[in-house]
This record gives sequence, structure tokens and C-alpha cells, in this order.
Amino acid sequence: MTTKRLIAIAAMAALITGTGSAASDKVEWAEITAELGKVKQAPSGHLSFQRLKKLLDIGEALFVAKFTTEDGAGRPAATQAIDPTKVRHQPTEPFARLSGPDSLACSSCHNDPVPGGAGGFVTNVFVSEGFTNANFDTSDPQFSNERGTNHLFGAGLVELLAREMSADLAATRSSALRLARQKARPVEVTLESKGVSFGVLTALPDGLVDLSGIDGVDTDLVIRPFSQKGVMTSLRQFTVNAMNHHHGMQATERFGSRWTGENDFDEDGHSNEMTPGDISALVAWQATLPAPGIQTPASDAWKQAARSGADLFNDWTCNSCHRQTLPLDSLVFSDPGPYDAAGTLDDKQVEVTAEYDLKMLEWAQKLPTDEQGRVLVPLFGDLKRHKITDRQIAALGNELLSQRFVGRDVFMTTELWGIGSTAPYGHRNNFTTLNSVILAHGGAARDSRDLYEAAPEEKRLALIAYLRTLVINK
Ligand code: HEC
Ligand code: HEC
Repeated sequence: MTTKRLIAIAAMAALITGTGSAASDKVEWAEITAELGKVKQAPSGHLSFQRLKKLLDIGEALFVAKFTTEDGAGRPAATQAIDPTKVRHQPTEPFARLSGPDSLACSSCHNDPVPGGAGGFVTNVFVSEGFTNANFDTSDPQFSNERGTNHLFGAGLVELLAREMSADLAATRSSALRLARQKARPVEVTLESKGVSFGVLTALPDGLVDLSGIDGVDTDLVIRPFSQKGVMTSLRQFTVNAMNHHHGMQATERFGSRWTGENDFDEDGHSNEMTPGDISALVAWQATLPAPGIQTPASDAWKQAARSGADLFNDWTCNSCHRQTLPLDSLVFSDPGPYDAAGTLDDKQVEVTAEYDLKMLEWAQKLPTDEQGRVLVPLFGDLKRHKITDRQIAALGNELLSQRFVGRDVFMTTELWGIGSTAPYGHRNNFTTLNSVILAHGGAARDSRDLYEAAPEEKRLALIAYLRTLVINK
């Protein structure tokens, strides 16, 4: 029996037990019907807790599913590229470590300490996206950037923060343009959202915008919180990419006839391998993974060290990039979202998006709030890209390809929530200790790193004791 058929049976069972409450839920629920292994219709409208729960069961099953050739795994005629691209030479082997497909399940890599988690060095991926003629058989870094597997806990909150920040920046741009037109002169404004500054922008009276002063964000001012480079917009986009790259499971919303003119783009005899509903279920599961927490240390000595480490984290300005929290106005996750482009469904391409309030989930109810009632997302990040190397400190400057025109030595601040559970470290997963990855911070983080380096060992250990309390709850 195929993996997806098994998932379908589970989904059917869930539906049979749950359909009675549909009317009272006031859900515009284009039901998740599973037939021949497909989540036939993507969910839409407000999802009650019960409806969401069912979607999550399917999403989890798909995340850990080991896809088979009967499900459509493999892509004999297509490359791993994000844009649908045909291979020049068909592969002779079903798996390829460098260009993929490289595994049967998402959880083959995202598995530490549990599914949805990070992965060891052995799960590194050779990221060559954007290049379309790819059947790489070399790990030569001229052809791909090697990246370690990061964890997905709290990812829904990260995407929600990014959406709100993108909206803030767009609003700033619009009001600057209005003002420039009214005053008939250039208007310079600071681009800031949630206390994070993204440089300055100058609006000109003729409607043009001078973007030469922006910092850490793309010129369209959309925050792209995913991938360690900070170049992927949404969980949905990443999921569609990953399904094709790692498993050769092609999403209809990108590889279907609408964009490619073909129903079986990878020519493996299967069409419609991942329906929009399948992708929605995977997105929902990832978007609702609990935020990592702070564990109470096992001993008094550790407790004490962690307490002073928390202060040192601020004293040494680690928090200028790794912000302990960012405030989030709304916990309502909508899918598909507002900032995706062709090849990933966005809210313009569907009649009604699915909406679920993360507040329905127990872990989200426990998140701290500020006096305005905003949730304080404890991510230890700023969703901004920074230059992380300089002439002396260059160990993180190991990439040769400039992904999506972002500088080779520029990376997004890693969110440190969960860091106590996810060794090894760095974007290539090649630092075995927290001490060594901290010492590898150059560029914009150089002053902060130098404060750490110059401190007595006891204080450095205290900082690390603190970082070790930031864990993924199993
Ligand atoms: C072969 C290992 C591997 C497999 C299989 C894999 N991933 Fe990943 N995943 C990675 C790596 C490596 C990264 C980091 C990429 C980067 O930073 O450029 C990543 C990053 C991500 C991210 C972005 C996280 C962030 O915070 O930046 C998401 C979302 C994700 N993966 C989802 C999935 C899904 C869904 C699947 C299954 C369809 C999957 N992954 C399968 C290795 C893998
Ligand atoms: C200028 C912004 C900035 C400052 C300041 C900064 N960091 Fe970072 N940090 C980053 C970026 C960017 C990365 C991602 C580096 C990479 O992997 O390429 C990172 C990565 C890390 C990592 C590795 C995370 C992982 O999962 O691999 C740790 C740990 C870390 N920082 C701790 C610290 C500490 C402790 C301080 C203060 C001494 C600090 N950082 C100061 C931007 C900063």
C-alpha cells in the first residue's frame, strides 16, 4: 500500500468521526476528503480546534511519511531547481546526495530531537536553487552552498512576525511617497518595524524610491524569514521547494499544468503528486509546532550561571541581533499567505484562505504578552540579514555562490530558541561547540564577539550555560 493511501485512510477515519459538528462550527469547510491518497480540497475559512486537529494529523503523517515511487517519489525528468526545469540527462540512480532526491521523508533530516527538529551534519543540503541546469555531481562549492538542517519549532510565529513586519515596511514606503508628492521634494524615512531598523528609504516626488540606504532586507521590503540566508518567504514556499528537491514529490500549484502545461512534469507516471490540500496540511503542522522554551537547569550551579549569562547576553549586545522577543499583534495564521509569488499559492489565487488562531493551542496560550496585549515571541532573533565576517574573522564566509544576490558573507540572524537542542552550529553545521560559533562572529557582530572573547572564562561559561537552557521541549 502506498504511503499516501495510508494517510488517506487515517484522514477518512478522522472525517467520519468529525463531520457532525461542521454546521455548528460555522466553518466554511471545503472538506478534507481523502480519495486515492489526496487531500482533495484545500481547507478554507475559519478552522475550529477540531478541524485544525484533523488537518494537523494529516500534516504530521505527511511530514514523517516515507514516500514511495507509487506516490510519485522521484523526478526522472525534472531537476531540483525551484523553477520547474527539465533535466538534460536522466539520472541512472533513484537517489543523489548532491542534487537530490536525497531521502524519503522530511523527518529523515528534520529529526533532532524529534520530527520537526534540526539535523546533524550528515543531513546537510547542497543548495543550488535558482540555477536551472542542475544535476550536480560535485560538492565543489562553486556549484552549491552547503547548509545544515535547522529546526521548525515556532515557525508559524516566525512567519506571522515576518508578515506584520513586511506590512509595516510597505506602509512606511507608501506614506513617504504620499508625502513626497504633496511636498514636491524628496522625503527620507527610517524603515523600522518592531524595533528592528532596516535602514532608510528616500521617496521622490515623481513616485520613484531610492533604496540605496536599505539594510538587511530585499528591495521589495518583504521580510523573508526562512532559510539561513533569509531568502524564502513562507512555510508554503519552502514546503513546495523541499518536496520537489528532496523527494521528487511535485506540488500541483507549481508543477501542474497551470505553470508548466504538463500534468506529469517529472515524467514518472504520476500526476498531481502533492495537492494544494496536502501542502496546506504540511504547512499547518509546521506552523503550529510549539515555540521552544527555557528549561530550568538541573543544578543550582547551572541555575546561577544561567542567570548571570542572561545579563551578559545583553551586556555584550548579543541581543542587538538576537532579540529575546519580538511583539506579535495577531496569532491568526492564514494560509495561503499574502507574500508569495507564482509557483506557490498565495491569498490572491484562492477564494477563501484557511485561517486558524494559534491561541487555540495550549503552548501558545502560555506565551508572555506585553501591556498592549501583544504576544512576545521568544525567538532570540530579528529576522534581519547581517554581514557576519570580516578580514580577520572569516570562518562563516565559506560560501562562493551569492544566493539570490545576497552577499556571500551575509546571513539572517539565527533564532537561538532551541539552540540547547540543536548542535552542531553555524549555517554549515560545522561548529561543534557554542564557544566556537560565537568566536566565529565577525563583521557586524565583531564588537559583540570581541567583548565575549575578552571576558574571563567564568563569564563566557555563564553565557553558554544560559544558551544551554534554550531548548526544544520534547
Ligand atoms: C536532506 C535533508 C532535508 C530534508 C529531507 C528536508 N529538509 Fe528542510 N531543511 C534542510 C536544510 C539543510 C535546511 C536549511 C536550508 C538553508 O538554510 O538554506 C532546511 C530548512 C527548512 C525550512 C526553513 C526553516 C528555517 O527556519 O529557515 C523549512 C520550512 C523546511 N526545511 C521544511 C522541510 C519540509 C516540509 C521537508 C519535507 C518536504 C523538508 N524540509 C525536508 C534539510 C532538509
Ligand atoms: C550583528 C548581529 C549579531 C550579533 C551582535 C550576534 N549575532 Fe549571533 N548570529 C548572527 C548571525 C547572522 C548568525 C548566523 C551565522 C551563520 O550561521 O552564518 C548568528 C549565529 C549565532 C549562533 C549559532 C546558531 C546556530 O544554530 O548555529 C549562536 C550560538 C550565536 N549567534 C550566539 C551569539 C552570541 C552569544 C552573541 C553575543 C556574544 C551573538 N550571537 C551576537 C548575528 C549576530
